[in-house]
Amino acid sequence: MTAEKKMPNETKEWTSLREHYEELRGRRLKDLFAEDPERARRFSLEACGLYLDYSRNLIVAQTMELLFALARAAGVREEARRMFSGEKINSTENRAVLHVALRAPLGERIEVDGKDVVPEVHRVLEKMEGFARRVREGEWRGYTGRRIRNVVNIGIGGSDLGPNMACEALRAYGQKDLRVRFVSNVDGTHFVEQTRDLNPEETLFIIASKTFTTLETMTNAHSAREWCLARLHDPAAVSRHFVAVSTNRSGVAEFGIDPANMFEFWDWVGGRYSMCSAIGLPIMLYIGPKRFREMLAGFHAMDRHFAEAPLESNLPVIMALLGIWYVDFFGAQTHAVLPYDQYLYRLPAYLQQADMESNGKSVDREGRRVSYHTGPVLWGEPGTNGQHSFFQLLHQGTHLVPADFIGFCRSLNPLGDHHDKLMANFFAQTEALAFGRSAEELRGEGVDEKLIPFRTFEGNRPTNTILAERLTPEVLGAIVALYEHKIFVQGVIWNINSFDQWGVELGKILAKKILSEITDESVPLGHDSSTNALLSRYRARRRKD
Ligand code: F6P
Repeated sequence: MTAEKKMPNETKEWTSLREHYEELRGRRLKDLFAEDPERARRFSLEACGLYLDYSRNLIVAQTMELLFALARAAGVREEARRMFSGEKINSTENRAVLHVALRAPLGERIEVDGKDVVPEVHRVLEKMEGFARRVREGEWRGYTGRRIRNVVNIGIGGSDLGPNMACEALRAYGQKDLRVRFVSNVDGTHFVEQTRDLNPEETLFIIASKTFTTLETMTNAHSAREWCLARLHDPAAVSRHFVAVSTNRSGVAEFGIDPANMFEFWDWVGGRYSMCSAIGLPIMLYIGPKRFREMLAGFHAMDRHFAEAPLESNLPVIMALLGIWYVDFFGAQTHAVLPYDQYLYRLPAYLQQADMESNGKSVDREGRRVSYHTGPVLWGEPGTNGQHSFFQLLHQGTHLVPADFIGFCRSLNPLGDHHDKLMANFFAQTEALAFGRSAEELRGEGVDEKLIPFRTFEGNRPTNTILAERLTPEVLGAIVALYEHKIFVQGVIWNINSFDQWGVELGKILAKKILSEITDESVPLGHDSSTNALLSRYRARRRKD
């Protein structure tokens, strides 16, 4: 019989970290920098076009050594090897986790159940490329012969957030006469507003759903078909205006989309890890196959870095360990991602699913309730907007909010001195968060004594700074893969399955039942008193206007 695996917080590595935390917690970043002139150099590194400065974290060299020891004890390297080699590490769904295969070059061999999946990946990529070229060059036309001017992606969660985020992030590289829109919400407002000004004759719908059963997506897809046929009348038009991205061939055929117009992916691609698969079709249509390949190359470079670099100089590993340091030792409950680039305004939303659906778990891989904290609440907004909104709390609130600042040396839209002003704020914020402003400094500046408590900044608020040269498709790929692997490492250390999402199921089941009760008022309501009262009220009023 094998001994039960220890929980991470029962290991000697965790105990050492706890003791170390007690010694370190009173230390100030200001003093740590004063004591070690090499600190910025010591705690920074560069890989895949990203420069990471993590010196403004509440750490000393020993902290990192202890964290690396924790990673080693958890078997981070071995688990990564298992993922990269196609083992079924998603144990509750008995699936391999191989988003890394989606960006592996042809010739690399990655097997699932003894079959090399890389040639399949490239076959679909080529099919996507052929299609993207035809649409972009006007060869693929609508039913009435008009050029496709609008692409509307219908999908939700992983079938929406990645392509949506990337199309916004890479707008500077997008085809100017092609509009790409996204409809995800089952709220009819989303569909109506996103299609209001579009001509169905010039519109291509991509129905993106791994399962092809998701309520929101299927509802929007049916509305899209009606919207299209209301103008085109002939059901034969569907094949010119609808394509599908899915793992469910029969579901696609049942909906009425020609399987020849289906771009497939596989059950070993998790929804939230799928933007490099055919789910990325809107990205490819918008930025073109060449740029899409550049994005994949950025992902792949980070995959190689993660797989090969020693833990001590491994970007995702370091960011993962710092995250654990704050969640489990400092008690941080949230983590902010703050891109100083307007193009990245959807990145926090994208990372919310990637991180929170992956590591928002309270049961470990053995099925035991964990006795430590796992994934934090992830949130964020682009700078400088956030500065005029929630930064007050970051600077002077009672919660510790570790934050990642992401910025670029060169703007894609050089306009007067905008970029220098943006970046001056970027650098100023992390400096202010780390070092604050003391009462003595304020007195030295002659600040009224009564205002000193209000104008004091404690500092000691930890941040990572990620600085890249320019936002290119390649750099975007590297950034996303950095977070994917960070999430993976944290899941390994917390000993949770980062690749299932059972927590979203209950709501879906209840909604199905409630929907039938709403539409058939003869069904007696058998819920709790609160739900019953709300449903009765809704039933009575829902069609009054
Ligand atoms: O409900 C959660 C979820 O299953 C996500 O994990 C997934 O990305 C999303 O729904 C959409 O699923 P599908 O691509 O199968 O429509």
